[in-house]
Amino acid sequence: MSTATPVAPSTASEISLVPEQLYSIERAKFAENFNRRPFMLDHSLSGHPAFTMDRLHTLLERSLPIPNKVYWNAGKKRIDQRWSDRPGRDFSIEEAFRRIRETDAWIIIFGADRDPEIHDLLEKGLAEVQEMTGIPLSKEAKSRQSIIFITSPHRITEYHIDKECSLLLQIHGKKTIHIFDQNDREVLTEPELERFWTVDNNAAIYKKELQGRATSFVLEPGKAVHIPINAPHWLENGDDISVSINQNFEYKNDKLANIYRANYYLRKMGMTPLPPGRSRLHDRLKGQGMRLPVALAREARELKEKVKGQG
Ligand SMILES: [Fe+2]
Repeated sequence: MSTATPVAPSTASEISLVPEQLYSIERAKFAENFNRRPFMLDHSLSGHPAFTMDRLHTLLERSLPIPNKVYWNAGKKRIDQRWSDRPGRDFSIEEAFRRIRETDAWIIIFGADRDPEIHDLLEKGLAEVQEMTGIPLSKEAKSRQSIIFITSPHRITEYHIDKECSLLLQIHGKKTIHIFDQNDREVLTEPELERFWTVDNNAAIYKKELQGRATSFVLEPGKAVHIPINAPHWLENGDDISVSINQNFEYKNDKLANIYRANYYLRKMGMTPLPPGRSRLHDRLKGQGMRLPVALAREARELKEKVKGQG
């Protein structure tokens, strides 16, 4: 990978670093499959100077003082390990980055679009996604994020599900992502979904015997993959360092999440709740019933963050 620091243009208008088109795919295919099933597409960011190791290092340094903008761990990981199971590490994140070839590290920079150039690139990507899907994501998404993953050779990213739907763009290196159908209730059970939406980000349990049901995509520079909400996935990196960007969207509509939350508590009380989609009445009651507790919990969380920030 090039480590040369690109010379930034003196004015934005001098050189346009935003490509004319970021994503290349048949529009109808994109619209038909978006947030329904995974698919691959091409992107034009792999050689972009915003993503050299020097630029990423600067972004990392600027992100470190900001709370919750960087996550990392290092060491050998298994597919079925929990996020919280961090293998021992006796070095800093700076060292993990500097020696990324040998530290078995996984470094995540959240909100990478704080870099104005990355911001412009991903805004362009968002505009194209909106245009292709007809979904006004800038209004309908509760949040949208740009995340950069920097990963050591052969490192595994554990099996998990996300609450966002995303596009994962490979910038450097080669890795394989295995994605399962989010609607396969043997792969991803109702209780796992209920726990995920209520209490445990790591609730999805990897079932080795069902690995054959995954679709595997090989990501190389210039390739991207779409991951629908809750589609279980895990990744394995190739021989080189991997750099990828995740552009994701979390929908505003909390209805389904609230049904899963209600079902979580009903199951805790010994009942076998109806999964969402079986009864319109049940779904409505559960969705409405959870609205207040969820709002209160959110408020309490925000207050806690505020107090922490002042402390
Ligand atoms: Fe993920």
